[in-house]
Amino acid sequence: MDIDVRVTGKTKLLGLVGNPVEHSISPQLHNTLSSLLGLDIVYIPLAVGKEDLETVVKALKALDFIGFNVTIPYKRDIMKYLDENSKEAILMGAVNTVKKIDGRLYGYNTDAEGFLRSFKEEAGVGFKGKKVVLIGAGGVARAIAVKIASEDAEKISVVNRTVEKSVELAEVVNENIKEIVQVYNFEDKTFRMAFEESDIIINTTSVGMYPKTRETPVKFTECFNKNQIVYDVIYNPEKTKFLNDAEKRGAKIINGLGMLFYQGISAYEIWTGVKFTEDKLKSVYESFKK
Ligand code: ATR
Repeated sequence: MDIDVRVTGKTKLLGLVGNPVEHSISPQLHNTLSSLLGLDIVYIPLAVGKEDLETVVKALKALDFIGFNVTIPYKRDIMKYLDENSKEAILMGAVNTVKKIDGRLYGYNTDAEGFLRSFKEEAGVGFKGKKVVLIGAGGVARAIAVKIASEDAEKISVVNRTVEKSVELAEVVNENIKEIVQVYNFEDKTFRMAFEESDIIINTTSVGMYPKTRETPVKFTECFNKNQIVYDVIYNPEKTKFLNDAEKRGAKIINGLGMLFYQGISAYEIWTGVKFTEDKLKSVYESFKK
């Protein structure tokens, strides 16, 4: 991506708080967006040590930052240092986007919004009335579960290596949104049934991510079928073994690149109030994919 950034005395600031941050594509994405829109905003990486998180948040509040992103490992820890967190972010248990409004810091979560926008864009359907299998029960799974429950999915079956974590996730969604989450063990035969009858299967674990590209969270590939949409939040490699297995059985497959893109777009829209048109987004997405 070509970046044309000119910093002046009036330039507003955005940044990425995390550790590590050097491999993040967010600075390129956001600086490209500002450049395309002709907005005088610069987005910078901010590697922060654990003991400095509170001090850094205070500094960002005092300086001329209009907002910032938060990434691993601070998406949960950051919440206690903000003035307010959105209801959705509280349910998701994580914040990835912070906006400063009248000197106060507000926390949001655009990861799940990014997932939903990319899913709708690439699958051409939403979650209403759908049966979904969610693999994994970590932070990403929780954000996605909260989102698709509020989109009126019919059933969410969560399967995770550590069963207690899926139980915890089910409790959050079932108590707060809708009684639809059921928990399964990988060894459980009924899980295979849930898998077979599902419309949408989503992997939220890191299993199969580079460099361990021969691994997959699902060992029984006969449960994939051509009516399913199979989504992997991993984007490196572009096609995981999980997606490859699903594709061979005729399922429609989608990787996590769109989620990464749209979480950034949603954050940028929150900070600036800009609403991107579909046409504009398509052309930015094409250059982002390169
Ligand atoms: P994130 O915020 O990216 O979701 P996380 O909270 O650490 O990260 O969650 C990682 C998820 O991947 C968990 O569901 C984890 O399973 P456990 O709850 O049993 O730890 C899952 N995961 C990671 N490595 C795994 C592996 N080798 N096999 C199966 N599941 C794995």
